[in-house]
Amino acid sequence: MSLREVPVSVSARLWQDSPFMKACRREATPFTPVWLMRQAGRYMKEYRDLRDRNSFLDLCKDSDLAAEVTVYAVQRLGVDAAILFSDILVLVEPMGLMLEYAKGDGPVIHNPLRMAADVSRLSSVKDGSGLEFVYDAIRKTRKDLPGHIPLIGFAGAPFTLASYMIEGKGSRHFIHTKSMMYTEPDAWHRLMTKIIQSLIGYLNAQISAGAQVVQLFDSWVGCLSPQDYQKYVLPYTRQVIQGIQEGTPVIYFGTETATLLELMKDTGCHVLGVDWRVELDAAWARIGDVAIQGNLDPAVLFAETPEIRRQVRRILDQAAGRPGHIFNLGHGVLPNTPVGHVKALIDAVHELSDRSLK
Ligand code: CP3
Repeated sequence: MSLREVPVSVSARLWQDSPFMKACRREATPFTPVWLMRQAGRYMKEYRDLRDRNSFLDLCKDSDLAAEVTVYAVQRLGVDAAILFSDILVLVEPMGLMLEYAKGDGPVIHNPLRMAADVSRLSSVKDGSGLEFVYDAIRKTRKDLPGHIPLIGFAGAPFTLASYMIEGKGSRHFIHTKSMMYTEPDAWHRLMTKIIQSLIGYLNAQISAGAQVVQLFDSWVGCLSPQDYQKYVLPYTRQVIQGIQEGTPVIYFGTETATLLELMKDTGCHVLGVDWRVELDAAWARIGDVAIQGNLDPAVLFAETPEIRRQVRRILDQAAGRPGHIFNLGHGVLPNTPVGHVKALIDAVHELSDRSLK
């Protein structure tokens, strides 16, 4: 019987018992599970070849190609989880914003939200509608993945999505975003409410389509003071996590969040992602009873294997075999990273954390 013919209840048990799902639940695992943010991307020749023929958004919207890219990365690297091939910004189109991935300078929103009136013209996405290509990609990916490999769905967290919608592109100081928070708190509240309604429908639809876990990417939240995080962000992020279908682990990831970890844990996430600017053991001691994901500096992958292995061992020593550690980078794989080094990292994590022989 091929995996595709296995009854759902049996194949469901395969991924439920995988090291990655166990680590999300803080259960003991025979080795430390590892996957990498941006594990499918421009550092891989096969991905660049596909990109030569397709725009990035076309890749996201072609569910066959999106599934192919996702599954290829899992096979090439031997990681313990797959992540849907998509982008946090695909959600902004059905909400009424004009998105373009311009060559060279990252995504641009041509009609960003700058004033209260702009927020009024934004739609919320009801029940995740308008993003069927994402659910198709999840169904196809799930079908093509080995049964024991869980699939991670994802979305941008409310703050990072709101700041992209307001700034229209990447930002250094987030002046427009913070201005709306401080000077038009009602507009901020209405914006965050529309975003969280959309996110809850979108993430639950990803779960219904076949994602086992969801991750919220809050890459930019580190620009906030703890007080502003608590007032303007925490209540909304918590509502998203509360709205996720019971039984599905939620990973909440941010960068430059060393001052925010306790507050981020208060969102009710099951796994907290940390970057390399904080030591993993110190972070875990502060957040206590949740799982932790991280936290190798992606730049280490430009070093040779002995240094990669030394840094892997350091992080594993900090985790000290406690259940609930998912190995990852502190942010995505960088362009031009040698694929062989990425593979060496995955192998090093598996080998150096192997508890079956001890
Ligand atoms: O982790 C994964 O592999 C899943 C897929 C994923 C992508 N982007 C694919 C992508 C995820 C989870 C993201 C998240 C994302 N996208 C964030 C938050 C996390 C982070 O990495 O900071 C943000 C801010 C975006 C918006 C975005 N998309 C930017 C700023 C860029 C351009 C810069 C860059 O890093 O490439 C993108 C494009 C993008 N998203 C690519 C990929 C594979 C590259 C597109 C290409 O040129 O082929």
